[in-house]
Amino acid sequence: MTIELTWLGHASWAIKAGDHRILIDPFLNDSPTAPVKADDVEATFIFVSHGHFDHVADVASIANRTGATVVSNYEIATWFAEKQQVKNTIGMNLGGGVDLPFGRAKLTIAYHSSQLPDGSYGGNPGGWLLTIGDKKIYFACDTALFSDMQLIGNAGIDLAVLPIGDLFTMGPEDSIEALHLILPKKVVPSHYNTWPPIEQDAAAWAERVRRETIAEPIVVEPGGIIHL
Ligand code: NI
Ligand code: MN
Repeated sequence: MTIELTWLGHASWAIKAGDHRILIDPFLNDSPTAPVKADDVEATFIFVSHGHFDHVADVASIANRTGATVVSNYEIATWFAEKQQVKNTIGMNLGGGVDLPFGRAKLTIAYHSSQLPDGSYGGNPGGWLLTIGDKKIYFACDTALFSDMQLIGNAGIDLAVLPIGDLFTMGPEDSIEALHLILPKKVVPSHYNTWPPIEQDAAAWAERVRRETIAEPIVVEPGGIIHL
C-alpha cells in the first residue's frame, strides 16, 4: 500500500493509503495557512487528538458531509455524537488500540490539556500511533516532551510527526530531545508558522536534526506531500 501524507497547515494532516482517506485534526476554514477548505477534503476516518479549537474546528462538518468515522478519546467522541450529530464515532482511552480497515490506531499519551470549545470536558489529550500496511507513523500531536516517548519509539517508528511551535507545545529544542527517545527513521515538523507566536525556522531545525539525530528531517510547505 502506498502512503501519501499531505500537510494541511498547522497540525492538520491528510493520509491517502489505498482507498482510505484519513484526516488528523482538520483545522482548515479558520486556519491562515490551510491550502484547502473543509468542503474540499475527502475522509473515511478523522482522528482527533484533543478538544482544542485548532484541532476540532472542522471535524463535524467534514464527518457529516462525508460519513467519515470520528476516532478520539471517549469524551470527545461522545461530544461529537451528542452535540454535533456525528453518526459514526469510535471512543477510546489512553493506551488502547483499535483495528480499522486500513490498519491499526493506538491512542498514546500526551502532556497537554483538552477542553472543548463550548467548555465541555474533553478528556485527556492524546497522540496517535498509526500502523498502515507495514509503516508506523507516530503523531505526537500537541504535547510537551516526555520520557515515555522512548516506549512509543520501541514500536519502530518510520515517521514521527512532532510539534515544534513552542509556547503551546514542545519547541525545536525539546523536539530534538524527543528524537533521541523515539528514534524514528524520518521526522516532519508540525504545529508551527500558523500564527506569529508559534513561528519557527524549520530549515534551521532540520539542520539540527541532521547534525544531532539519526532521523531524516522532511520539511514541506502547507499542501506539500510526503511519500512513505
Ligand atoms: Ni492544543
Ligand atoms: Mn493546538
